[in-house]
Amino acid sequence: KTIYLKDYERPAYAFERVNLDFELGEATTTVTSTIRVRPANDANGKSLFLNGDESVELAAIEVDGAKFTTYERTGKGITLRALPTEAFDLRVTTTIKPQENTALEGLYKSSGNFCTQCEAEGFRRITFYQDRPDVMSIFTTRITADKTKYPVLLGNGNLVDSGDLEGGKHFTVWEDPWAKPCYLFALVAGDLGMVEDKFKTMTGKEVTLRIFTETHNLDKCAHAMTSLIKSMKWDEDTYGLEYDLELFNIVAVDDFNMGAMENKSLNIFNSRLVLATPQSATDADYAAIEGVVAHEYFHNYTGNRVTCRDWFQLSLKEGLTVYRDQEFSADMNSRGVKRIGDVSRLRMAQFAQDAGPMAHPIRPESYIKMDNFYTVTVYEKGAEVVRMYETLLGKDGFRKGMDLYFERHDGQAVTTEDFFAAMCDANGADLSTFKPWYSQAGTPRVTANGSYDAAAKTFTLECSQVVPKTPGQDSKVPVLCPIAVGLVGPDGADMNLTIDGKSHGTTAVLRFDQASATYTFTGVDAKPVPSILRNFSAPVRLTTNLTQDDLLFLMANDSDAFNRWEAGQTLLRNLCLDLIKGGEQSFKMNDAITAAMRTILSGAKAADADKAFIARAMMVPSEGELSDMLEEGTVDPAAVHAARDFVMKTLATELRAELEATAQANSAAVYSNEPADRAARSLKNACIGYLSYLDAPEIAAMTYERYVAADNMTDKIAALSALSGKDCDERIKAIDAFYAEWSHDPLVMNKWLSIQAASSLPNNLANVRALAAGSAFDIKNPNKVYSLIGGFCASPTNFHAIDGSGYEFLADIVLELDDLNGQVASRMVSAFTRWRKFEPTRASAMKAQLERIAAKTGLSENVFEIVSKSLE
Ligand code: ARG
Ligand code: ZN
Repeated sequence: KTIYLKDYERPAYAFERVNLDFELGEATTTVTSTIRVRPANDANGKSLFLNGDESVELAAIEVDGAKFTTYERTGKGITLRALPTEAFDLRVTTTIKPQENTALEGLYKSSGNFCTQCEAEGFRRITFYQDRPDVMSIFTTRITADKTKYPVLLGNGNLVDSGDLEGGKHFTVWEDPWAKPCYLFALVAGDLGMVEDKFKTMTGKEVTLRIFTETHNLDKCAHAMTSLIKSMKWDEDTYGLEYDLELFNIVAVDDFNMGAMENKSLNIFNSRLVLATPQSATDADYAAIEGVVAHEYFHNYTGNRVTCRDWFQLSLKEGLTVYRDQEFSADMNSRGVKRIGDVSRLRMAQFAQDAGPMAHPIRPESYIKMDNFYTVTVYEKGAEVVRMYETLLGKDGFRKGMDLYFERHDGQAVTTEDFFAAMCDANGADLSTFKPWYSQAGTPRVTANGSYDAAAKTFTLECSQVVPKTPGQDSKVPVLCPIAVGLVGPDGADMNLTIDGKSHGTTAVLRFDQASATYTFTGVDAKPVPSILRNFSAPVRLTTNLTQDDLLFLMANDSDAFNRWEAGQTLLRNLCLDLIKGGEQSFKMNDAITAAMRTILSGAKAADADKAFIARAMMVPSEGELSDMLEEGTVDPAAVHAARDFVMKTLATELRAELEATAQANSAAVYSNEPADRAARSLKNACIGYLSYLDAPEIAAMTYERYVAADNMTDKIAALSALSGKDCDERIKAIDAFYAEWSHDPLVMNKWLSIQAASSLPNNLANVRALAAGSAFDIKNPNKVYSLIGGFCASPTNFHAIDGSGYEFLADIVLELDDLNGQVASRMVSAFTRWRKFEPTRASAMKAQLERIAAKTGLSENVFEIVSKSLE
């Protein structure tokens, strides 16, 4: 059943207070929910619908202490009729079986402990409730359980009571003073250890910070704790936002569908985003932990204190909170490198989604299963939309907008319109042409062509934009794109910019909101090279008339780190695309690009070199990004792979001496986690990655030696990945050594699974099948599925094997997963959504698997939605 934004209606009944009583048991868990219900003035005896999943057994309903009978139950919930017209107490008693819950939504068990995941619509698997974010209530939670098995019992808010009970049981009572929707409810019960720290807030209040994990993992929590403290400080410094309770808990669990969840004062995390030591986690893991801990903490204001009116508004909290965590990480680390990483991800995943059958606006208009809309569009494109306010209004203007947003809406469930209005009103700005960013799907295509008039000393930029059609949206309007532009003079320095007599400093933000417009810079004394869309100021596909020489010039001179990187990427992209289109007989390297790459690499020798940036600038665009830029119906992954492989091999051959020297010069004797050491490590490992493209046996030997010598996981993974595509003994030796060292640690084994699964070695499917049958894999654990199956889908040669064997394997897995966990199944089936992009043989093989899945009886709504939209 499809749910539409246009059908939104305010709730007719308010839930003022909720008392939840959990009796946790091995066979059944009993939940008693007592709700103070107040009919709205216009309720007029309307019926009250409570969502409730089929898996929830209804034991009793009472109204004001008396048995209540005027209700009907369907598969989706219960409808209560003939209710009192004044406020009343509603008591609902249900029983559930968390130990049988493989969907990992609602209350379930992970490694023997009880935990919850209620966003988006998991609370209805616990009890009958108005499971919608605009019903906000004050929750009290009482938890009773066996004391030996579950010594730790956690809920939202403050602990107000606890004690022992007969029969070896004990209880706790938690009170959360902040009204919240039920998707923010959480409960944890288990045998967990804890590390504790303190944070003193800006007004001097002391907050206790705790991280709970299984005892054997307590030594791995330090980085998450440091990240939490930094986040709390940053939110005070940047937005004046102070934590609002005396306790903040994080719990790490192994079985979790997503990354983490911002439940009020009781964040629950996928353990991969908490646990880290240098020996067990990579630098990328460390960065992800810092970012996600911050993200969940930041939700306390952007999400919890101000929440969403309905799920169509998801980007209100997610786009904003992703933007906030991106900015936090940029402040903690290298800003330019962070931006490059974020944009790469956006282009690789979000642009692809925006061009396929699942394209949707950041505020979708309809959905079948909300879980399918926790997407790169709502999150990452949503964050770009928030970032554009900052670009348009300036840092101070943005802060004013945020202040007004909290002033107006603290404690409310609101819409993206409300956020837009706060930004405009706080700045007296008219941003009406900005609004289509919320309602239109598809990535705008912007063309910007520059020309210099030496006689008039003017530089003219002619811009045009088109928003492409997407499913259900045939006609689009132009949308306000902030285009940040600099003009780089022949000396390599930024010019001062004047448009219409107005000075713009060295970077002008053009407010481009027409189908086409012309901007004329005056007083331009010499022919400049324009640097367009600095810092990726709008999430668009940009085409310019910059020449190869212009791009080489920007690569060397642009003051904007993002565009310096982008210039090189544009050259490499164009080269790869030409080679893909020309086919193998056209394979020829562009010497100017090789020379430019050599210059970049040699820059690493400078004392002040930004090595993390250099490592990024050396990367050749991924096969995914290249495929996305090819015509619909033409992609041959083997051809894309061959072209990119040729470029990598040629660069590795030409630059071998420099790559080896740079790898050597940046090999630290001992591990350190300082930013400079991390940067050096990323550069070294980028060099090793390049060198692995050479067929020389001594390279494999050198890489294996590095594997053995590595004293940290970043270097081990870099060496293992470099060997993973090579048909050599060293690969097997490294895989076996890794297993011998780490088979006891499930998080580390995920890396072992994904590296092997993503290998481009011919006929790797047999290996993946063996891994799926082996003890390191467990189809019920989402991380294992994402690593092994997700890893396999990332392999262009094997997932996309021309005989269709990879597709058949994925479909087998999806069908098996569908009965266990619809959310994970639908994420996996998404690898098929863009089947139309591929050449006919592969396209029809993928389509056949989609049809095979669609034919299954009892398919989950999650998978049904993705499959049916893909086939439409
Ligand atoms: N709100 C969580 C976060 O972004 C994600 C929840 C995901 N839930 C889901 N059903 N997909 O931090
Ligand atoms: Zn979030």
